[in-house]
Amino acid sequence: MPHADSAFVPQGLDKTQFWQHVFDQLTALLDGQRSWVTNLANASSLIYNSLLAYPAHFGDGERMVNWAGFYLHSSLFPSPKISTQGRTSGPGAGEILLLGPFCGKPACQFINVTPGKSRGVCADAFMQRKTLLVTDVDAYPGHIACDGETKSEIVCPLVLRREDGDVAVGVLDLDCLALAGFTEEDRAGLEKIAQLIVEACDW
Ligand code: SME
Repeated sequence: MPHADSAFVPQGLDKTQFWQHVFDQLTALLDGQRSWVTNLANASSLIYNSLLAYPAHFGDGERMVNWAGFYLHSSLFPSPKISTQGRTSGPGAGEILLLGPFCGKPACQFINVTPGKSRGVCADAFMQRKTLLVTDVDAYPGHIACDGETKSEIVCPLVLRREDGDVAVGVLDLDCLALAGFTEEDRAGLEKIAQLIVEACDW
């Protein structure tokens, strides 16, 4: 099967079946590859395009999902000096998540996750290691508006389970043009996908 066909979505699926379908397609796409860059690139494309191919819930005009992608802890990136608007990462600059593979319009380059200085849904999900389902982004204190058209959002942390303790490596972020675009079913489906991604990559 051509790789692009993995984003085809059969008709008649309910939400739970839809996310199981995406999970199965992603499992196949990740097979034989441990690079997080490669795997997150395919994961963001698969999630975004599968959502758009599921018009009953996500791909229909005003209800459209408009962004799906990742922010990753800067320690995962090769360069020791990463621009954060005048500062660089490392001592004194605090901790940041950097924009990773995504589908959608351009987004902010980084998100501050320094304790006491952090702001936004991605930072909160990362620091709390908890999925955040935001029904109205304008009502969320500190929300970072990368796209003024976004109305709701869901962010799942990527948490690596290790013998010496859990480590958050980044977040999976989805935005929607509709208020309350995401539900508990989406939370369940995306958390399974986030765990699949974490386990499929070398970090
Ligand atoms: N809204 C996010 C920022 C990332 S964009 O949505 C792609 C936040 O508040 O952290």
